[in-house]
Amino acid sequence: MDKIIINGGRRLEGEVFVSGSKNAALPILISSLLTSEPCIYQQVPNLLDVHTTLKLLAGLGVAVDRQPWLTGSGDLMLRAERVENFEASYDLVKTMRASFLVLGPLLARFGHARVSTPGGCAIGTRPVNLHLKGLAEMGASILQVHGYIEAKAERLRGARIYLDLPSVGATENLMMAATLAEGTTIIENAAKEPEIEDLARVLNTMGGKIAGAGSDIMRVDGVSSLRGVTHRVIPDRIEAASFIIAGALMGGEVVVKNARPEHLDAFLIKLKEAGVSIAPDEGAIRVTGNGRIKSVDVTTLPYPGFPTDLQAQMMVLMAVADGVSVITETIFENRFMHAQELDRMGADIRLEGNRAVVRGVKELSGAPVMATDLRASVSLILAGLVANGKTEVSRVYHLDRGYEHIEKKLMALGAAIERVQG
Ligand code: UD1
Repeated sequence: MDKIIINGGRRLEGEVFVSGSKNAALPILISSLLTSEPCIYQQVPNLLDVHTTLKLLAGLGVAVDRQPWLTGSGDLMLRAERVENFEASYDLVKTMRASFLVLGPLLARFGHARVSTPGGCAIGTRPVNLHLKGLAEMGASILQVHGYIEAKAERLRGARIYLDLPSVGATENLMMAATLAEGTTIIENAAKEPEIEDLARVLNTMGGKIAGAGSDIMRVDGVSSLRGVTHRVIPDRIEAASFIIAGALMGGEVVVKNARPEHLDAFLIKLKEAGVSIAPDEGAIRVTGNGRIKSVDVTTLPYPGFPTDLQAQMMVLMAVADGVSVITETIFENRFMHAQELDRMGADIRLEGNRAVVRGVKELSGAPVMATDLRASVSLILAGLVANGKTEVSRVYHLDRGYEHIEKKLMALGAAIERVQG
């Protein structure tokens, strides 16, 4: 298995270009199941999770033209004209939970689907009850048999659905299903993430009728069929923010290009509070590392709150800040696995339930550490950049799920980082 080796302490300087958003791309690729016409997607990041999604879709019978994408144009063409399999296997769903999003589109267009339940996850239990509750309210019959959800509906009907939590995945599954349902669906307490808005843009360009995406209440007027689409996926706000933290820790001046400051409000406000110098530029964010960082408290919340997907990276910044910071995780129950690894590098972090009390230290020291999930793994890379000496991050396949060429991008900024095949 590959490892990433970092010799810490190098100043970072220059420009880095943010890739397309993983969390926007996955549901968008899956939405191609809703039409028999060709769909062209641009700025799709070349990541393990995208490859898994393409494998899943190809297995269902979707024609996948990835040649232009792999040869650099960034365009990927999918066509779900001859779908002949309606099952997402345990093997795929357990490696990538977003696979569960095929349930709504398959059910809406073909009237049946068999999708494995995702099972456990390193960061928490992550049930799918809200996805299922919503589909049942739209008239689907749902059975759980041998670890699979078997769902059927002659035609889904519009319904009024209240989500107990603003789940991103449930909102996406239900809005996709509702586009082809008969009548109007109202999703209350919907998730408001920018990725939801990007999916709504795609569905509306396909002929869907979605209003209110990005707010608490979404209205979907069902249509009888959808057409093809050409769409450019939004930039990845989590990748952008991860580079901003790298710049705050080790800049120099780092210009993060293809970033949307409006998607990062809560994060940028916290960074400014911490004393980091940040200047949003047209289509870019400029960050200047200016030495000391002040401790700030952070609570993760659904969008527009501080993203749970940036909690681990923020913890690294706080680990070397002046003072004591309390980081509260409210979205996932077990998302502090990186804390123990950071402690091995000399951080002073005490866990109390869903709170981490982080006492800033003068210096981290490089050590062999192990990645446990996607965002935890990037936090270890950031820690390796700031630590003195050598850090060796193992299990980097987690990183490859969500960060396109991260070591190359950091190397171009001046980091001493390399991937070694293990
Ligand atoms: C998505 C993101 C992930 C991010 C998360 C929260 C993708 C591919 N992944 O994951 O990177 O960390 O949003 O911003 O976009 N829940 C239930 N029942 C359900 C569904 C969810 O109780 O049916 C709970 C979850 O256990 C969790 C919370 O709701 O505590 C939020 O989960 P959700 O928003 O659904 O996350 P994902 O869509 O899985």
